Amino acid sequence: MQDSLARTFALDGRVAVVTGAASGLGRETALVLSEAGATPVLCDVNTAGLEETAELVASAGAQAIVCPTDVSQRAQVEAAGERAAAINGKVDIWVNVAGIIVNRSVIDAQEDEVERMLSINLKGVYWGCSAAGRLMRAGGGGSIINFSSSGADNPVPDLSLYSMTKASVNMLTRTVAKEMGPYGIRANAVAPGWVETPMGTHRWRNESGAIDPALREEGLRQRESASPLGIVGTPRDIALAVLYLASDASRFVTGQVLRPNGGVSMP
Ligand SMILES: NC(=O)c1ccc[n+]([C@@H]2O[C@H](COP(=O)([O-])OP(=O)(O)OC[C@H]3O[C@@H](n4cnc5c(N)ncnc54)[C@H](O)[C@@H]3O)[C@@H](O)[C@H]2O)c1
Repeated sequence: MQDSLARTFALDGRVAVVTGAASGLGRETALVLSEAGATPVLCDVNTAGLEETAELVASAGAQAIVCPTDVSQRAQVEAAGERAAAINGKVDIWVNVAGIIVNRSVIDAQEDEVERMLSINLKGVYWGCSAAGRLMRAGGGGSIINFSSSGADNPVPDLSLYSMTKASVNMLTRTVAKEMGPYGIRANAVAPGWVETPMGTHRWRNESGAIDPALREEGLRQRESASPLGIVGTPRDIALAVLYLASDASRFVTGQVLRPNGGVSMP
C-alpha cells in the first residue's frame, strides 16, 4: 500500500473517547483506534474491564487512559471529555458504544426498565454528542460515531425498548451532522449486525450466566445462514467500520448509518 493511502487511515496524535470500552465492541474499537495511532480514553462503569482493555492496548505497544464513567450521568460524561481534552488540548474522535439490552414485551415492561434503557442507550449517547460537540467545536472539528443496531430497522418481539433507542440514535446522529457540520464535525452511526460479545450472547446463557454450548452452536448456524455471505461477523469487523468513520478516509461522509451486518439486513 502506498504511504499516502495508509496516512489517510492513520490516527497518529489523535485523542479518541470510547464509551463501553470495558467489553465487546467498545474494547475492540479502542484496540483498533490505538493500532491506528490514536490515544483512546476508555470510559465505562466496569472499572476492572477498563483496566483489562488498557492492558491489551499496552501489550499492543500503545497507551490508553482509563476513565471510569457512567454515560447516563451528564456530569460524568462532561468530565470524561475534559480529561480527554487535557491530553492534547482537543478531542478528535468520540465513539458512543456503551449500551444495554432488555428483553421485555411492551405489555410486561416495567417503568424502571424503560427508564434505564432511555438513560443509557439514548441519553448516554445524547450527552456524549453534546460534550463531544462542544469540545470539537473549540478544537476545529472532529468525528462522532454513535452505536446503533440492525434492531433500529427491524421490529423484533420483546426488543421494543432496545430498538426504539437505536432508531432514535440514528435520528440524533443525522441531526448532529446537520447542526455541527459547519464546525467541521462529522457525525455517523455504525449499526452492527449480530456479533459474539457478552451482549450478543445474552439469549444463550443459563441462569448462572454460563453459555449453553448447544444453544451457541445452533445460534451461530442460524446467524451464518441468515447472511448472503454465509458468515458471522467479529468485533473487529465492526471496529474497522469505526476506523473508517474516525479517519480522514471518510472526510466526505456525515449523517450516515453504516451497517456492517453481512448483508443480513438491507433496509
Ligand atoms: N453485539 C452485538 O451483536 C451488537 C449488535 C448491534 C449493536 N450492538 C451495540 O454495540 C454496543 C456494544 O455492545 P457489545 O455487544 O459490545 O455489548 P457489551 O455488553 O459487551 O458491552 C457494553 C458495555 O457498555 C457498558 N455500559 C453499560 N452501561 C453503561 C453506563 N451506564 N455507562 C458506561 N458504560 C456502560 C458495559 O459495562 C459494557 O462494558 C451497544 O450499544 C450495542 O447495542 C451490539
